[in-house]
Amino acid sequence: MAGPLRGMATPSGPGTMLVPEQEEPQKPVAANDHIQIALIGAGGQGQYDTSVAVKVPGVKLVAVADCYDGRLTHAKEVWGAEIQTTRDYAEILARKDIDAVIIGTPDHWHKQAAIDAMHAGKDVYCEKPMIHLYSDGPAMIEASRATGKILQIGSQRVSNIIYIKAKEILASGAIGELNMVTAHWDRNSAIGAWDYTVPPDASTETCDWPRFLGTAPKIPFNGEQFFQWRKWKAYGSGVAGDLFVHLFSGTHFITGAKGPTRAMATGGLRFWKDGRNVPDVMLGLFDYPEGFNLSLGVNFVDGGAENEGFTFIGSEGTIEIGWSGLTVNRVPRDKEPGLMIGTFANAMQAQILKEYRAKYPVTEATAPTRVGEDRYVVPEGYSDSYDHFKNFFHAVRTREPVVEDAVFGYRAAGAALLSNLSYEQGKVVAWDPVGMRLKNEG
Ligand SMILES: NC(=O)c1ccc[n+]([C@@H]2O[C@H](COP(=O)([O-])OP(=O)(O)OC[C@H]3O[C@@H](n4cnc5c(N)ncnc54)[C@H](O)[C@@H]3O)[C@@H](O)[C@H]2O)c1
Repeated sequence: MAGPLRGMATPSGPGTMLVPEQEEPQKPVAANDHIQIALIGAGGQGQYDTSVAVKVPGVKLVAVADCYDGRLTHAKEVWGAEIQTTRDYAEILARKDIDAVIIGTPDHWHKQAAIDAMHAGKDVYCEKPMIHLYSDGPAMIEASRATGKILQIGSQRVSNIIYIKAKEILASGAIGELNMVTAHWDRNSAIGAWDYTVPPDASTETCDWPRFLGTAPKIPFNGEQFFQWRKWKAYGSGVAGDLFVHLFSGTHFITGAKGPTRAMATGGLRFWKDGRNVPDVMLGLFDYPEGFNLSLGVNFVDGGAENEGFTFIGSEGTIEIGWSGLTVNRVPRDKEPGLMIGTFANAMQAQILKEYRAKYPVTEATAPTRVGEDRYVVPEGYSDSYDHFKNFFHAVRTREPVVEDAVFGYRAAGAALLSNLSYEQGKVVAWDPVGMRLKNEG
C-alpha cells in the first residue's frame, strides 16, 4: 500500500540517473531538538507513513491513536512499549510535547482530525484525499490559516524526483504545447478492489465503532465497513478520491494548473458486487483552461495484466511517467505534407507527383527522423514518501511553506470528486479552480 506508483511501466534500458536532493549534513540531533510526532489512524497507510517519517533525522514517534485495539498492540510491537496508545486522539492532542501528527484515518475523518490537531497547536501531515465533502475544503484551509499551523497533504508524488524532472522538461518546451494528459490504473485482484482482511477478533469489544463512524450514519457494527471502508461512500470517496486524486496532484504539480473547469465521468459496478455502493470501473474527462484535456480511467476488473500509465502529450513529444523513471519521446512531424493519389488516373498521379517533387525534393533533411527517447531513472530504493516527509519536517522546523498545502490539496481533491458528482448526477459538472467552488451547469 506504500507507493501509488507501484507496478507502473518501468522505462527499460539505461537512462540518466535522477539524483534526490542532498540530505542536509547529518548533524547529531539533540534529544531536546527532536520533532515529536503522533499517529492518528494506524492502519495500512498510517503505519507505513510513520515508518518513513521516523527515518527523517530528528523525528520521534511518541503516541498512536486508533479505533482497533489490534493496531494499537501492533504499534507498540513496532515502535516500543513506551509509546502512548489510545482510542481517543483527543488524549494525544492534549499533550504539549507533541509537535506534529500524521492523520491516516479513513477520508470521512480527515477534516475533523486535522482541524482538531491544528487548533491544539500541532502541525499536520494529512493523508489524501484532503476532503470527503466539498465543505471540508474551506474549513481546513481556514483552520490552517487561522492557526498558522502547517498542513501537508499526503499525495507523496508531488515530492517525487520523477515529477520534479517532468515539470522541468515540460517547462523547457521539450514536448511543445501540452494538449492532453492521460492516465489509467487497472487492477484485477480482491485486495486491489479494496477487499482488505477483516481480523476474526473484529467486534464491538476490539473496535471503537461509534468513534470510527464519527459523522457517518449510525448503523450496527459491521466489520467489513470498518476494515474495507473504501467500498462505502459514507467513509471513502470511491476510485476518484482514492486514486484519481493522486493523478490530479501529479498533473497540477507538473503543469502548474489549478484545476479543471468542466468534468464528466461514467462507469459502473461491473464485478465486485459485494454490497459496495461505489463503481469498480470509472472513466473521467476534464477540461483545463490552459488548453489541455485530462482523461482518467480506473478498472478493477482488468482481465489482462494489471497496469498503469501516466502520459503527458504535447505537440512535439510525450512524457511517460513510470514507477521508476520517466521517458520523453519526440518524433517530429514530416516536413513535407505527403500525398494520397493512388485512386486517381495514372496521368493525374504522375502530374501531381512531378509538381510535388518540384516543391519538395527528396533530401536527407525531409526524411522522417526519430529524435528518440530520453530516459531518466531513479536510484534503487528511492522513496518519494521520504522526500515528502522531509519537505514536511523541514517546514515544521523552518515555517517555510510545504509543497502540498491545504489549497493545493483542496484543488486536487475537489477536482477528483467532480467525477463522483458527474457519475451520480449523470451530467457534466463545472468547477471554478481558482475560487475552488462548484458551479452549476446543465
Ligand atoms: N498516499 C498514499 O499513497 C495512500 C495509500 C493508501 C491510503 N492512503 C490514505 O490513507 C488513509 C487511510 O487508509 P488506509 O488504507 O490506511 O486505511 P485503514 O483502514 O488501513 O486504516 C485506517 C485506520 O484509521 C482508524 N480510525 C478510524 N477512525 C479513527 C479515529 N476517529 N481516530 C483514530 N483512528 C481512526 C481505523 O481504526 C483504521 O485502523 C485514507 O485516507 C487513504 O486514502 C494514502
